[in-house]
Amino acid sequence: MPLTRLIVQQFRNIKACDMPLSTGFNFIIGPNGSGKTSVLEAIYMLGHGRSFKSSLTGRIIQNECQELFVHGRFLNSDQFEIPIGINKQRDGSTEVRIGGQSGQKLAQLAEVLPLQLIHPEGFELLTDGPKFRRAFIDWGVFHSQPQFYEAWGRFKRFSKQRNALLKTARSYKELSYWDKDLALLAEQIDQWRATYVEQMQPLAEEMCRAFLPEFEIKLGYYRGWERETAYGELLQRNFERDQNLGYTFSGPNKADLRIKVNNTPVEDVLSRGQLKLMMCALRLAQGQHLAQLTGKQCIYLIDDFASELDSVRRKRLADCLKQTKAQVFVSSITESQIADMIDENGKMFHVEHGTIEQV
Ligand SMILES: Nc1ncnc2c1ncn2[C@@H]1O[C@H](COP(=O)(O)OP(=O)(O)OP(=O)(O)O)[C@@H](O)[C@H]1O
Ligand SMILES: [Mg+2]
Repeated sequence: MPLTRLIVQQFRNIKACDMPLSTGFNFIIGPNGSGKTSVLEAIYMLGHGRSFKSSLTGRIIQNECQELFVHGRFLNSDQFEIPIGINKQRDGSTEVRIGGQSGQKLAQLAEVLPLQLIHPEGFELLTDGPKFRRAFIDWGVFHSQPQFYEAWGRFKRFSKQRNALLKTARSYKELSYWDKDLALLAEQIDQWRATYVEQMQPLAEEMCRAFLPEFEIKLGYYRGWERETAYGELLQRNFERDQNLGYTFSGPNKADLRIKVNNTPVEDVLSRGQLKLMMCALRLAQGQHLAQLTGKQCIYLIDDFASELDSVRRKRLADCLKQTKAQVFVSSITESQIADMIDENGKMFHVEHGTIEQV
């Protein structure tokens, strides 16, 4: 659901800006340190309630200021403009307003503003631990399965309780009552994730082929424990091991999206530019799959569009983004690097020392 207006105040080096947006391409152009990433960070905060760069709000609020604001308007499915906003204070408090109502939850921001971020430090999706790929899967499940958010929250709470019980239990009997509920939740979460990966996998592999035709790329879902065993049974069988460890070792908290390139782990095969292309392919595929499945179009944030990419690959990414018909924010140091994407519907903004002007 696209944003039609963005107002950012006291956010990093941006004192105040008010941007009328295109529902197609929005280009953010400026030199190093001017505030391009900060604009994308502000939009990300509007959709996630947090930054992708820092977990410390104090670093994001403008120096010498007490609070930051990000406001905007988005088009809902009936094409009505709905106001949305987030305010964060130095003491850590957060206030979210949607449609004029205060006290909204962060998950509601995520629900109305599905975002896909592609930025130069985003390779962790491919090269780091399963946590990043689990988040990737769960983004899709969150947006396509309304009960997931609550169920996952409950699973995490129950797991914590179980880990506390493990430390004091003298026999498995003391856990078996709790494990029934935990097992039910785990099986449900696994089923949602498995279905989601199965549905989006063909599109993701096709997109990977389009971006990296020289490689054979395969995705596979790992649910966090062996396939043949019911979760309840596994909990009972591993009781002693879990007790020695002090926590529940296997489960949906270990799930992963396993990615193989020519049958080898990704980071051993791909160059940095190729990693970026693969990340773009996966994120675009996920966004497009969501649009096909639910009609919800996500917003793409692409920071430092040109980095790592040669002109042929830039053009490929630009063409692919155009085909999505989604709202796209692209940052770049020069206009020439984004020349392939400029069209009559796009809007261009120049950023200089935190001041943003539409061109
Ligand atoms: N809390 C803050 N208050 C004021 N200024 C800040 C704060 N945090 C960061 N800055 C400054 O804001 C600017 C933010 O730059 P940003 O990362 O948005 O630049 P950029 O245009 O993306 O640059 P690059 O092309 O190098 O990626 C930097 O100059 C930084 O020093
Ligand atoms: Mg930047």
